[in-house]
Amino acid sequence: MATLALTKVLHFAAAHRLASPALSEAENLALYGPCFRGHGHNYTLEVTVRGPLGPDGIVMDADLLERTMRAAVVDLVDHHDLDGDVPALGVGMTTGENLVAAFYRLLDPVLPPGRLWRVALVETENNRFEYGPGAAE
Ligand code: NI
Repeated sequence: MATLALTKVLHFAAAHRLASPALSEAENLALYGPCFRGHGHNYTLEVTVRGPLGPDGIVMDADLLERTMRAAVVDLVDHHDLDGDVPALGVGMTTGENLVAAFYRLLDPVLPPGRLWRVALVETENNRFEYGPGAAE
């Protein structure tokens, strides 16, 4: 039976700042550069589900996937300050790495079992983060 993947792409905007309390201002600036200052991103969230093609010709209902992404992630973070407003993320530093892993953990339990293959978070056109069994190596 053929295995197929479906990717749904949604957008959200959020503010964040990368500043470790364990580091001095100079060290934070050296490590995080401009992300040490408060700023925002227009993020892109990509969620890929993978599985056998059912007799109905789909891997998963695309509208259900979108509703799940909105309820589990987008509604939680859109137009929020990720460092202060969203304790459910459970991340310390709001790096792309930590955020994409948190989004995977939020999505996996609310999607059909075994289907979530990859969550990608595009922070800027230059920075893309991926998490899950299908993450780029
Ligand atoms: Ni940033």
